[in-house]
Amino acid sequence: MNNVWSEHVQGIMTLYLSRKLRFGDVFFEQYNRVFRLDTEANLKILEIGCGPGALAESLHRWYPKAEITAIDRDSNFISFAQDKIAGVTFMEGDATRLPFADNSFDVTISNTVQEHVEPSAFWGEQKRVLKPDGVCLCLSARKGLHCQAPCLEMTKEEKEFWENIPEAESELEKYGVCQYPMTEAELPASMEENGFSDVTTGYAVIDLTPDARKYSSQMAELMIEAKRQNDLEAIKSSYHEYDEKVINAVNAKYEERLRLYHEGINQWDTSVSLTMIVRGSKRVYKG
Ligand SMILES: C[S@@+](CC[C@H](N)C(=O)[O-])C[C@H]1O[C@@H](n2cnc3c(N)ncnc32)[C@H](O)[C@@H]1O
Repeated sequence: MNNVWSEHVQGIMTLYLSRKLRFGDVFFEQYNRVFRLDTEANLKILEIGCGPGALAESLHRWYPKAEITAIDRDSNFISFAQDKIAGVTFMEGDATRLPFADNSFDVTISNTVQEHVEPSAFWGEQKRVLKPDGVCLCLSARKGLHCQAPCLEMTKEEKEFWENIPEAESELEKYGVCQYPMTEAELPASMEENGFSDVTTGYAVIDLTPDARKYSSQMAELMIEAKRQNDLEAIKSSYHEYDEKVINAVNAKYEERLRLYHEGINQWDTSVSLTMIVRGSKRVYKG
């Protein structure tokens, strides 16, 4: 249908692994404090712009009785999610023309999608497909803190590679990415202006620090692996020629990071991000 995102903007593994972390069970309490959804209810949930499906996968674990449908217009993401994730219906679809009847869902949810879709269509379509009193949840990544381990600094091979590539920002403009950014004040206001009631906001703090002992080794390894895939996919999807030297250099530095982790030599590299959650209801007033 439209594979611009997976081929030019963010690769499948970059999105899947980073979101698998962001929507890890350790963070569930923070999300559900704002979602205020009953974990035992038979909800019909629609995720919009689901990418490779990591949030839908977590929703399926968190709300086991819910019927979850997830759509994205990028068919590479949808094929990946269909192959990998059980228990969720993934389908291609456009957020500006949702392929569902009016009043079909109890909940709509999206993560880092609002800023890419024209607001009246983004909110209007969700309002249309929600049942009366249905809940719209809009998740939006905000600024974070990032501190790199010395062993993960850019290698000479990566520097040489990126020096020859034009500014990523101008490349993204071409694909209409982030055309509708909103501040922390504008986002809930936009939801209200587009007809949602009882709007509330909250924040989840996602602290990804592999050396923090509160995380399992599986989670710590996933943090390191997610960064590796991000670096590798950025090179591969830049559409510029690269040779194996740069790929080997990236792999070598992440192998070193894993070795240090397993030997207990702390690096304390960290990535802390803030996810804003905006919640509103579709109220139907009887005149
Ligand atoms: C930043 S990615 C986030 C993906 C996913 N929500 C996640 O957090 O991994 C934005 C997603 O929105 C999708 N998208 C953008 N515009 C869309 C539209 N009009 N209809 C459906 N999906 C859209 C892109 O294909 C991409 O998967």
